[in-house]
Amino acid sequence: MSPLRITRTLPEDAMDAALRSDVLHGLTRTPKTLPPKWFYDARGSELFEDITRLPEYYPTRAEREILLTRAAEIASVTGARTLVELGSGSSDKTRHLLEELTDLDSYVPVDVSDSALKGAGEVLLAEHPGLNVHALVADFQQGLVLPSGTPGPRLLAFLGGTVGNLPPAERAVFLSSLRALLEPGDALLLGTDLVKDEATLVAAYDDAQGVTAEFNKNVLSVLARELGADCDPADFAHVALWDRENEWIEMRLRARHDLTVKIRDLDLTVDFAAGEELRTEVSAKFRKDGVRAELAAAKLELTHWWTDSEGRFALSLSVPHTATDR
Ligand code: SAH
Ligand code: AVI
Repeated sequence: MSPLRITRTLPEDAMDAALRSDVLHGLTRTPKTLPPKWFYDARGSELFEDITRLPEYYPTRAEREILLTRAAEIASVTGARTLVELGSGSSDKTRHLLEELTDLDSYVPVDVSDSALKGAGEVLLAEHPGLNVHALVADFQQGLVLPSGTPGPRLLAFLGGTVGNLPPAERAVFLSSLRALLEPGDALLLGTDLVKDEATLVAAYDDAQGVTAEFNKNVLSVLARELGADCDPADFAHVALWDRENEWIEMRLRARHDLTVKIRDLDLTVDFAAGEELRTEVSAKFRKDGVRAELAAAKLELTHWWTDSEGRFALSLSVPHTATDR
């Protein structure tokens, strides 16, 4: 069995500096915000996997249904020899693609969570002993460089609807950065959750068992461990609401009473008034025309659009624009 290669493209002190900067900027502005990538320490990655099995959280099941029915078509259309997957997590759904990508030489999962990459890599290598698995511990928004020497055509997959966790302006920059990674013959496979009724959406982010609440509050444990913050998760309530105008779900942490959080390593004191909210995530929901337009703005052309049988989630395939720019 080929060994699992894990490359850390961002040194640990760069991740630490990024966390410090995000916390310093995000908690001293109004309204307070933090980027969702800080949910995913080992515990956060486990909690996300628990979320994917909740009865209310339909996106994972819907996307799996599409992959199960379309993986063979995706394989024949792309002929991929290298599969790069951003925000790969457990790579669980990816296995349906790997089963059909018969010409595949290399799989390059990219994630900020080294625990998720290690667990996923070991499982995949046991199932595909000849596959080259080269995992990258990296922030996919920070100038991603792919390993050299991986053969084309490349399929760049970004599943789960994680693209919706980027606010629109960041998403536009990010999609353009993905386009820059693609050569003629390569393709982008993008998972997007679709707009639907509010009750279904809110339930998916505020489940009866409270797993999503625990996932949301996990960011406080990350701040406590990494920066010596003295925050108590019990002081905050989990909030999930549907923003009809922006067509996104927003997760927040609401202070249950007036409180002060001391962040030792930043020498920072953050006051929360009772009821004040910290935005921890947006999760945008899409329509086909919007996805097509966002891809086109990044010089990508939508070629395929597949949904699950209930029309809840979409997988799209797009390719670099062939028309010459004027
Ligand atoms: N693709 C999987 C996991 C989705 S959870 C699925 O569809 O089930 C989102 C994943 O993206 C997590 O594993 C998280 O660690 C990773 N992630 C979030 N922000 C990231 C970033 N900026 N750079 C790299 N990985 C990121
Ligand atoms: C990873 N991402 C697509 C998930 C989502 O649905 O936005 C993260 C999540 N947040 C709460 N539940 C799941």
